[in-house]
Amino acid sequence: MRPQFPPTPMLRMLPYRKPTEGRDYWLFDDVLPNADRVRERCLGKQDWALGFPHTGESWPGRRAIPALDAEELTQVEARVMQATGTRKLWVQPTPDGKTLNHNCVQVVGKHEAGPRPHTDSLALCRYAGVLYLNPDAPQECGTSFYRQRMPNGQLGGNLVTRPHTNLVEALGTRFVPPNSFVEDVRIPHKFNRLLVYSAALIHTATAYCGSVLADERMAAVFFWMS
Ligand SMILES: [Fe+2]
Repeated sequence: MRPQFPPTPMLRMLPYRKPTEGRDYWLFDDVLPNADRVRERCLGKQDWALGFPHTGESWPGRRAIPALDAEELTQVEARVMQATGTRKLWVQPTPDGKTLNHNCVQVVGKHEAGPRPHTDSLALCRYAGVLYLNPDAPQECGTSFYRQRMPNGQLGGNLVTRPHTNLVEALGTRFVPPNSFVEDVRIPHKFNRLLVYSAALIHTATAYCGSVLADERMAAVFFWMS
């Protein structure tokens, strides 16, 4: 007799490292002197690429590049290098010629997406950054670090380590049952706050907000190799 359901894949338990400020993530409040201007510039963009639900893309909302101009980006990178003790940051070219969404402004509404725990590719970045650009977004629209919850309820890890470069490789499967991850540490949304974190940690936007461009969650995202 054939089994009625496919067998549940064995999920590996990842290593756990409590996300700790100054070691695994860094916060820079009031990071830009002209964040209002950056927001205005982003609101005026006409060249948005549209994602779900406007198109068949899997990524939600809308996005456009660049978010920051060269001088703004230089200011931000100087702060990140100083805080992380990194001498050099660079943007890794993608092997297939695709665009890495570095220095990309992303606008996502409440009904366009929910939390999606993931890690960023270790092959493409070591640090990820998110700069919150909506002065009226609720605090719970920041970023959360998640960790595993194993099928027996035991809490698992949150870190992708070499030789794996992404969560699918690290878990050993693309198919994870619902509720396989739980929120661990929440970073509140704050206008003009930059959160930088180790891209190997499981993370997600905590929530999205709004229903039109002006009140949706607006954030610039960065992916740096070092
Ligand atoms: Fe990410």
